[in-house]
Amino acid sequence: MTSRRTDTRTDHRSKRSGMITVAVAGMAAGVLAAAGAARADNAPPAPQKMPAAGNEGEINKYAQAMLADGRKIFRSDTFGSEAFWGDVLGLHKAIAGEKNSGVGPGVSPRTALSVGLKVDVDALPADLKKQLGAGKVNLDDPATTVALLKLNAVVAVTAFANADGSVRSMGIQCALCHSTVDDSFAPGIGKRLDGWANRDLNVGAIVGLAPNLKPIGDMLGVDVATVRKVLASWGPGRYDALLDKDGKAFRPDGKQAGTLIPPAFGLAGINLSTWTGFGSVPYWNAYVATTQMHGMGTFVDARFGASKKQYPVAQKTNSGNTRAASDDTTAKLPALQYYQLSIPAPKAPAGSYNAAAFARGREVFNNKGRCAGCHVPPLFTEPGSGLHSAKEMGVDSFSADRSPTHAYRTAPLAGLWSHQKGGFYHDGRFGTLLDVVNHYDATLKLKLATEEKSDLVEYLKGI
Ligand code: HEC
Ligand code: HEC
Repeated sequence: MTSRRTDTRTDHRSKRSGMITVAVAGMAAGVLAAAGAARADNAPPAPQKMPAAGNEGEINKYAQAMLADGRKIFRSDTFGSEAFWGDVLGLHKAIAGEKNSGVGPGVSPRTALSVGLKVDVDALPADLKKQLGAGKVNLDDPATTVALLKLNAVVAVTAFANADGSVRSMGIQCALCHSTVDDSFAPGIGKRLDGWANRDLNVGAIVGLAPNLKPIGDMLGVDVATVRKVLASWGPGRYDALLDKDGKAFRPDGKQAGTLIPPAFGLAGINLSTWTGFGSVPYWNAYVATTQMHGMGTFVDARFGASKKQYPVAQKTNSGNTRAASDDTTAKLPALQYYQLSIPAPKAPAGSYNAAAFARGREVFNNKGRCAGCHVPPLFTEPGSGLHSAKEMGVDSFSADRSPTHAYRTAPLAGLWSHQKGGFYHDGRFGTLLDVVNHYDATLKLKLATEEKSDLVEYLKGI
């Protein structure tokens, strides 16, 4: 019986597939007939063959290629930004120092590490690792920095060399601000952690080394001394991505105007990017690559041309309509986005938070604390559009008003534990998570008990 049934089924199946064959042949005949009719005036291409196994294999291949391309772009593509950082500002000269065909004292590896630059241990040859481990490498000599740059070992800073080996120019990459290392070899030296916010990086101190800051001053309509003052004001982990649009170098209260460097992980499913929700990931990537990193590319957003009051510098430079003579960026946006969406938020290490308090804190987050109303798990921001007014958040509107949205975006919280340095909220105004919780307790009149607050903090540390 069993075998008969199997036989029947086999029969049935072959009959069905036979029918499909007939149907396909019929369709093909129809297509051919149509093609025949058209051939008289305009010969069309041969009819497309249906793929034999669907397109799953093709999709998998595409995904692999996008991931690999995106990683490469994120880590090592300068987008041609050496034309600005090296050729115009001369930053490479200050790093190399006068003994190495540059200017000034140069930047030693010790100084480079102290301003938050990171070294990729996987780029170091075995013998150099051995020497480093034995303390035999001179970390106070800028020549060592130049050697590390030539090995492509300084994360997200690429040097270009002359034929005689001297450094000719340098460009930067996305990974400069949005990655760090795991310190597995030594502090600042280890394996790459792509997507993590580099809260050690003092962008202002690094840019401030450049021998020629006049182009930045000219753009902003200020002198070089003022440019230096602004760059020095940010401090570690902060950068001002709007200075070149609105020229607002300081807050009305005199404090620095930059924002914290956010992570570039855990972004899949999240609609709006940046603290103030400028746009999507590829929107912001085009913005940064062309108008901040000064790569060669195209960036278009009429919002920067619309208001002279909000964006006086952008009106002058027309940077809301940036079109480089050659575009080295646009073709890279798909893979770059793909890669960022592939980076998961890192899981909090076991033991870094109290598990029982975490579970209690989740209840507070979802119920009495009303946090989940905006930070909707598991995205921890709103599916849809998560923009809130400064008034609603109980903070001032300075940074919100520098954005076309005039609002703050609900910050996605997954992996929060990895970027506690520098504080919380767009400018790091709250030093600790308890400060954040106390702020909500007061603003939303939550009346949380002391334990509920500390449970909430443990929850935030663990998500
Ligand atoms: C000099 C440091 C720096 C560099 C280089 C840099 N970024 Fe950023 N990035 C920032 C800062 C600061 C912000 C926050 C800006 C804001 O909200 O106003 C940001 C925001 C972002 C965001 C939004 C994250 C979120 O939470 O929504 C993404 C995505 C991002 N950057 C990706 C990139 C990519 C891709 C590159 C390379 C093309 C890049 N960044 C280069 C500093 C940098
Ligand atoms: C009305 C919507 C809303 C509610 C309710 C809300 N948040 Fe937020 N949250 C935001 C926004 C918007 C930001 C970004 C503020 C900024 O950047 O200045 C934010 C930022 C944060 C941050 C800082 C993230 C970072 O990367 O610095 C933490 C932590 C946080 N919220 C926790 C909570 C907790 C805990 C609660 C409940 C007690 C809560 N939020 C309730 C909208 C909300």
